[in-house]
Amino acid sequence: MPSRKNRDNPKYLRIDRCRSKSADAPHIAHVQVESWRTTYAGIVPDSFLAAMDKQGRAESWEPQLADPAMLIFVAEDNSGIFGFIGGGPIRDAVDDYDAELYAIYLLKDHQQQGAGRALTITLAASLRAQGFKSMAVWALEENPAVNFYKRLGAVPVVTRSIHIGGKDLPDLALGWTSLSSLL
Ligand SMILES: CC(C)(COP(=O)(O)OP(=O)(O)OC[C@H]1O[C@@H](n2cnc3c(N)ncnc32)[C@H](O)[C@@H]1OP(=O)(O)O)[C@@H](O)C(=O)NCCC(=O)NCCS
Repeated sequence: MPSRKNRDNPKYLRIDRCRSKSADAPHIAHVQVESWRTTYAGIVPDSFLAAMDKQGRAESWEPQLADPAMLIFVAEDNSGIFGFIGGGPIRDAVDDYDAELYAIYLLKDHQQQGAGRALTITLAASLRAQGFKSMAVWALEENPAVNFYKRLGAVPVVTRSIHIGGKDLPDLALGWTSLSSLL
């Protein structure tokens, strides 16, 4: 699939489909670990966040980047890759939703500038082009990102409990019943 530039991108933001797993994996892992540490401080146990390992994460991203069913886009500017989004077929069933936004993370100093919306629209367009109709996403209930998803039109669907770092945390699925509503 060719890389895609979204007309709604903020100035200087480029969004590209990942092409090179070995080149992109360390950057994605860096963004993931740094963003987890700022986002989940006070929510996920400190010991878990401190133990996150960028090298190990990079290695676990490589097969995902090589998987054609995984749609992964990175956001970059002149400072390099500062964000990513991943999605694909729904993993655990959530009502009748057929696709899932697996993860979206931006470095703290690149948040609230439109990149998250641009990445989500890019993923939604790509999923729709593959024939998917709808999209769900899981977020820790305490994560302010819940309000980002709602702002983009997602509605709460169901809650579950997940275990992270020795703690049970409430996890909320939200969804867009029509991907077209995001485009
Ligand atoms: C959540 C995240 C991806 C959103 O991306 P972003 O680039 O910061 O958001 P945008 O600037 O594109 O915001 C789009 C809209 O959502 C709103 N919004 C963004 N974050 C919000 C929040 N925490 N609470 C309420 N509204 C929010 C914006 O104000 C904007 O509204 P507008 O329509 O009035 O302009 C980003 O903040 C992030 O990476 N957070 C940390 C990691 C994380 O929590 N990931 C999700 C895990 S489930």
